[in-house]
Amino acid sequence: MTRSPSGWPGRGGPRSRLPAKPRFPRPRFARTGPASWRAHATPEDRLISGGYRQYVILGAGLDSFAWRRADLIGWLRLIEVDRPASQARKLARIAELGLPVRDGHLFAAVDFEAGSLRDGLDRAGLDWSEPAFFSWLGVTVYLTAEAIDATLRSVSGCGPGSEIVLSYDASDAFLDDAAREMVKIEARLVAASGEPYATRMSPAQAEALIAGAGLEVAEHLTPQALDDRYFAGRSDGLRPSAAERLIAARTRRR
Ligand SMILES: C[S@@+](CC[C@H](N)C(=O)[O-])C[C@H]1O[C@@H](n2cnc3c(N)ncnc32)[C@H](O)[C@@H]1O
Repeated sequence: MTRSPSGWPGRGGPRSRLPAKPRFPRPRFARTGPASWRAHATPEDRLISGGYRQYVILGAGLDSFAWRRADLIGWLRLIEVDRPASQARKLARIAELGLPVRDGHLFAAVDFEAGSLRDGLDRAGLDWSEPAFFSWLGVTVYLTAEAIDATLRSVSGCGPGSEIVLSYDASDAFLDDAAREMVKIEARLVAASGEPYATRMSPAQAEALIAGAGLEVAEHLTPQALDDRYFAGRSDGLRPSAAERLIAARTRRR
């Protein structure tokens, strides 16, 4: 099911094209390659500095980008993808809180295990000929390798210059004792809440899945690298997950 609470017209209408003119000033950054990503603070900054006009959040959960960066919506087409039940809960909560849903903020309900991301994004109006930025954070661990592969293959069909930033959980052999213990506890908790971990991978397996789907790995960050880049100097003790690694990948030049 594709929801568009913002009332964009149906398939084949103007929704299938990007807005002709930005309603907000286009950010003044040159399009940059992944090598310069180091200069940016978060994947969202990467999205903005890259000048993408389509942003797809896969497994969006309660992600609040649409409201934190309301200034970008309209200029940027934002599509939130999630499992039907999760998305229905979020839409109900949005309505309950009276949060605005702006034109250009769209919702596509897709179960990565059962449905086609390509079809869901078609219904939501993604322009496959244009580059898009995808984020897929905290989700692959809940999916089978087949669903991860199918989703990556859909992403690789998007316009040249598209990028995805995704996280995965490393398998035990790549963790120290403390991290292994932590993952064991987390796994028990999420299983009890009805969403058991399904896939943890070696870094080589993660890269192979990405390459097999036709994408190129641009960056692959360990928890230590994430800590150095994003958490240095924090005084509240917050640290990245000991098991989660981040990969930035892009579509191959065609
Ligand atoms: C831990 S939350 C992460 C949410 C968000 N990406 C973040 O980083 O805060 C996991 C998300 O994955 C989604 N998810 C899990 N299995 C899924 C599936 N089979 N198809 C689509 N989404 C799924 C859940 O609905 C949930 O929104």
